[in-house]
Amino acid sequence: MTPARDFDAYTRHAQPPPRSRERFAPSPRSGSRHGEVVHTADGRELILRDIEPGDVAAVQRCFKRLPLQDVRRRFMHAMSELPTSMAQRLCRIDPELEAAFVLIDETVKPTELRGVGRVFVDVASNSAEFSVLVEREWTRIGLGALLMQRLVDECRRRGLSEIWGYVLMENRPMLELCKELGFIAKMMPGEAGTAQIRLKL
Ligand SMILES: CC(C)(COP(=O)(O)OP(=O)(O)OC[C@H]1O[C@@H](n2cnc3c(N)ncnc32)[C@H](O)[C@@H]1OP(=O)(O)O)[C@@H](O)C(=O)NCCC(=O)NCCS
Repeated sequence: MTPARDFDAYTRHAQPPPRSRERFAPSPRSGSRHGEVVHTADGRELILRDIEPGDVAAVQRCFKRLPLQDVRRRFMHAMSELPTSMAQRLCRIDPELEAAFVLIDETVKPTELRGVGRVFVDVASNSAEFSVLVEREWTRIGLGALLMQRLVDECRRRGLSEIWGYVLMENRPMLELCKELGFIAKMMPGEAGTAQIRLKL
């Protein structure tokens, strides 16, 4: 088994604390359950794995817990509910053109989804559009950075030349996160309040 860099170790001992991008250290999980264990700096545990068709109910429950601001930031418009058909579509991905990683909290019953990151490949431009979401109570502990790094790695693995996404200009957390990861932001002409964020791979 690959030696796991302990997610906690960085924040327990280091002064000042490391940047979020240095905190990624999921460890391969043993036993029959699939996914990788992620230990957060504050002692919580999540499982990082690919999204599955069976995640529909968890995705819908996660959506219900989101503040309206986060719904708008993620989907770029207000939505009062996530229809089952859309949740099914989000969970049953086409692996040729999509990848989606989820952070699952198995310490509760039913297990809950705390974060999700996905990319859609645009074959014509050899690039992929990303989206990412971390449930608010789980933010500021490096999970957004972890998911984004996974997406970047996945795009590189697929030989894509760029990863990009749309971010509302008021969405400072996401703009800061992207800046930390080396993304460049460009205003969208004709779409006031929205930036396109890109990273050449
Ligand atoms: C944006 C979002 C994904 C960030 O997730 P997160 O788990 O809090 O991010 P991290 O803890 O990995 O933070 C990484 C870096 O982002 C920046 N950041 C994150 N939240 C921030 C905030 N509230 N204010 C300022 N900077 C912030 C910081 O630079 C941080 O690094 P640091 O902790 O070393 O200072 C999360 O807030 C979210 O899901 N928002 C709603 C959905 C959304 O906006 N999606 C993006 C559009 S697709």
